[in-house]
Amino acid sequence: MEKYKRILVTSALPYANGPIHLGHLAGAYLNADLYVRYQKLKGRQIIYICGSDEHGVPITIAAEKKGISPQKIVDEFHSRNLKAFKQFGISFDYYGRTSSPVHHKTSQEFFLNLYKKNIFKKITDKQLYDEESKMFLPDRYVKGTCPNCSYNEAYGDQCEKCGSSLSPLELIEPKSALTGKTPVLRETTHWYLPLGEFQEKLSTWLDTKKDWKINVLGQVKSWLNEGLKDRAVTRDLTWGVPVPLEDSKNKVLYVWFDAPIGYISATREWADLKGDPEQWKQYWQKPDTKLVHFIGKDNIVFHCIMFPAMLMAHGDYILPDNVPANEFLNLQGRKLSTSKNYAVWLEDYLLKFPVDPLRYYLSINAPETKDADFTWQEYMARNNGELADILGNFVNRTLAFAKKHFNHKVPSRGPLNKMDKEIIKILSDAPATVGTFFEHFTFRKTATGFMDVARACNKYFNDTEPWKTAKTDRQRCATALNICIQACRTLAIISAPVIPFSAEKIWNMLNLEGSVLGQCWDTAADFVIENEHELGDLSILFAKFEQKQIQGEIDRLEKNQESEPDKTETAAGEKTKIKYEDFSKIQLKVAQVVQAEKIKKTDKLLKLTLEIEGRQRQIVAGIAQHYTPDEIKGKKIVIVANLEAVTIRGIESNGMLLAAEDDDGIMSVLSLDRDVKTGANVK
Ligand code: MF3
Ligand code: ZN
Repeated sequence: MEKYKRILVTSALPYANGPIHLGHLAGAYLNADLYVRYQKLKGRQIIYICGSDEHGVPITIAAEKKGISPQKIVDEFHSRNLKAFKQFGISFDYYGRTSSPVHHKTSQEFFLNLYKKNIFKKITDKQLYDEESKMFLPDRYVKGTCPNCSYNEAYGDQCEKCGSSLSPLELIEPKSALTGKTPVLRETTHWYLPLGEFQEKLSTWLDTKKDWKINVLGQVKSWLNEGLKDRAVTRDLTWGVPVPLEDSKNKVLYVWFDAPIGYISATREWADLKGDPEQWKQYWQKPDTKLVHFIGKDNIVFHCIMFPAMLMAHGDYILPDNVPANEFLNLQGRKLSTSKNYAVWLEDYLLKFPVDPLRYYLSINAPETKDADFTWQEYMARNNGELADILGNFVNRTLAFAKKHFNHKVPSRGPLNKMDKEIIKILSDAPATVGTFFEHFTFRKTATGFMDVARACNKYFNDTEPWKTAKTDRQRCATALNICIQACRTLAIISAPVIPFSAEKIWNMLNLEGSVLGQCWDTAADFVIENEHELGDLSILFAKFEQKQIQGEIDRLEKNQESEPDKTETAAGEKTKIKYEDFSKIQLKVAQVVQAEKIKKTDKLLKLTLEIEGRQRQIVAGIAQHYTPDEIKGKKIVIVANLEAVTIRGIESNGMLLAAEDDDGIMSVLSLDRDVKTGANVK
């Protein structure tokens, strides 16, 4: 932090074409909010900027489906989403929208700046055109068959099945998403950002980012390895920011050109609102600002390559210090799908359940280095078994005890014994330990971090047995209670980023001045509550859920599921027990890798040729972010040999290698520590 004076945090601007669901929260909002709330408690100068992404084909298609104007759609979802985020405690300093005049002006100026520097290439070529609706068909306006995996509902910009990014002309048998007609080719002229020209500068810059998350670096490296190509930054559409050039009627900026500039425009509007219109420059133009973009994994290329290239080309702006992108959140073992209504919608959640249990569960189970699974069962288990039984119980029994035995006042401490000193040490280490987890974007550990402290406090309460010493050793009892009350204050502060509403409740129950938000992280463990301080009213911190409260949610999802389950884990992360016969159906064999190569247009996949007892066989393995082809070549590994063949990205895979992956995203392929022949059975 030392090199920085202030921090600018952004979360991906969500498209204002639909409501927010848990996948959004887990991807780019809750983690950003935890970071911001922590930094504010650290006393740092920080702002948190976000807003609605109101342009682009997703918006116009949503409008067409509903038969209303794009403006109507974005007006509705801009306010609904902002309201839901606020209720969920996402503490934006400003939530803008890309249809605002300031944004139009800012992004047009940005475009013109690059235009005048001759950065863009002007290219005329043929593109898909729908003669019936009389329009060009960029991005999602065309559907067709994916050239990589043969999925027949791939979009013109991306295949959602295999994840590869596409251009409309790559689709096999393209069809207009509007009319279903086969489009024709027609000539049109567009402005292209020649990303290839930035390749070297980007690589040099990205090489300095050793501390970025491996899931992010993996994707970035694979884009760079493939070589960056020109990207059109304009489109033949009418909804969007008009291209500010005389000869570009009926063209708008590509949504991925204007949307990230939305971060800048929103910061400008924030500064205007504060009555200090120049202040946005501090955040965007001073190298002592730390810029952090929180995003989901589908946004990595735009935030780590395209937007930085735009910022480099412009020259007046800083580049992000970090882009801690998250992976995806699954739901009850299946992929979330908004179109199938297989999702938990935030607005709906807020009508039925309290905020903090969700913040806690999504934090502790964040898709930080790999996809995570949300289950209602585990949500309930975490609430009942941790929030209620550990933290809630500790605060409640402490305050109830003080009420009963000390007239609802804070008793004074006497001499300290070994147990007292141990808990005091745990408390005083906590701010630094838990703080590091926030600094390093390891948010799962921030939640376990404060819960571990609460667990230790609860144990301290048990071990000191104040209900006994109340009668036998009044001073001992008073000392333990004083420490427990001070600990409640520490817990309120160090849990505040994750469970802000409950932390505030603890604060009020302690009858302390001000709000927990205004406190100082570093002195959270100082024992500052004075003797004889009068405590506040007691209330229940976390109510326990019953199965019937969550059963309706589970049933609804079960009705909406159509996709195949991809996980069979139970709530505790353990698989259901099986018989040996079940296990013996799986044929595990030793194989040797004789050839390995990266699969084009993917960042995770390697194609491996294996040798087993003199015969060759080919598999596709998702290890490219952890092993280079050279590293894996020659290794003897273990594979599942009798798995049905599948085709991944058009490549046949005849088996699966075994590898271990931990919470930190460290992966190791299973290898052998003696030289066993290939074909050997593994049991
Ligand atoms: N609207 C995009 C999405 O939901 C994210 C835009 S992020 C920004 O995927 F940087 F462009 F703003
Ligand atoms: Zn595909």
